[in-house]
Amino acid sequence: MKPNHNENDTMTSAILVTGGAGYAGSHTVAALLERPDTDVDIVVVDNLSNAYRPEGQKKPEPLRIIEEMTEKTIHFYDIDIRDAAGLCRIFENHNIDCVIHFAALKAVAESVEKPLEYYQANITGTCTLFEVMRKYGVHKLVYSSSCTVYGEPERLPLDEGHPTGAGLTSPYGRSKYFCEEIMKDLCRSDPKWMVISLRYFNPVGAHPSGKIGEDPNGIPNNLMPYISQVAVGRLKELVVFGADYPTVDGTGVRDYIHVVDLAEGHVKAVKLFKQKGFSGFHAVNLGTGTGYSVLQLLSAFEKASGRKIPHRVAGRRAGDIAANVADPALAQRLLGWRAARGLADMCADTWRWQRTHPNGYRGE
Ligand code: NAD
Ligand code: WQD
Repeated sequence: MKPNHNENDTMTSAILVTGGAGYAGSHTVAALLERPDTDVDIVVVDNLSNAYRPEGQKKPEPLRIIEEMTEKTIHFYDIDIRDAAGLCRIFENHNIDCVIHFAALKAVAESVEKPLEYYQANITGTCTLFEVMRKYGVHKLVYSSSCTVYGEPERLPLDEGHPTGAGLTSPYGRSKYFCEEIMKDLCRSDPKWMVISLRYFNPVGAHPSGKIGEDPNGIPNNLMPYISQVAVGRLKELVVFGADYPTVDGTGVRDYIHVVDLAEGHVKAVKLFKQKGFSGFHAVNLGTGTGYSVLQLLSAFEKASGRKIPHRVAGRRAGDIAANVADPALAQRLLGWRAARGLADMCADTWRWQRTHPNGYRGE
């Protein structure tokens, strides 16, 4: 693929989005391209391990749909982030100015069964990407981190000063924590690095068009896609994991954040790189600051969908915590970002996507 050239015959500056065909990545690509002031190329690298590309199609389905929605082109490479030579080709072909790094394996329970696969993809892959970035003099990075790094909360809401790394229950969680430590070391080693590690709470929802959304492989591990698949008739009933937590109704409480708000957080982070004097490692929560229980989410979804969702209570899920809520104040101060969409939007947008795509991107 030929690099883009502008009138002055310099290459258009580009943002590299790893894992950009996945759930959070595709919504962020859409948010970047939907902005009228976006004057950068978007380059996506994804190995399609958790994204769908129909046979014979060049681009993964969510990217094709975003191109159609925005009438803009996305450059796509089917490459694994552990493939250094492949990544180098991308940096040769495009004038990459910054990287948004989503690519990772993310199934918590699977990571306990397959720790090496998770450390390989999430840590070796991330280090390979950083080496290539350094080689090409690219030091601006937005990283997909997780509230998981806080472990069992000592206090709520969770602010970024809360300790990280203690009591992590899965290789997945540890991989996110280790990557943060690696990025801190990188920033200590060279002041040119600018790293914003966005600690997501629980991303849910879909693009308001209903055209892109979350498309989990197999039976969903997470609550919102599970509920929406019960609502659409793909699954029989929701199993509520524990109703004996010290919470409002005994069920687990989480800080659900609309994926479009999450995507906009990334757009704000990229803008911060332009601020004079900005450098070093910054961890920032992306959450709403409000927690909802499993039963509250269930009831909001029933309202949004107009459907009754069968459910039964079972025992606690291993490794779960009672409650998790973000302090989003730093995101407001540093990025000028705050979540704009509430629980009703999260449910309505998930439902619009799910009812129009009962089998996700794969159709019937
Ligand atoms: P996702 O699985 O939908 O997206 C990840 C994408 O990365 C997929 O398209 C997959 O094919 C790709 N990928 C995986 N390994 C790769 C590799 N080695 N090389 C190239 N591409 C690869 O997941 P998501 O929910 O969009 O999550 C994105 C990021 O956000 C991940 O880093 C995840 O850990 C983090 N995160 C997600 C959540 C969540 O609940 N969704 C919460 C906190 C943090
Ligand atoms: C939410 C609540 C469950 C499913 C996970 C990862 C975390 C982060 C976000 C990436 C809990 C309950 C769930 C079900 C249920 N991902 N539940 N029945 O556990 O907060 O976080 O996703 O970084 O690392 O661990 O999210 O959606 O799985 O669960 O009752 O079938 O719903 O017990 O209280 P969680 P979740």
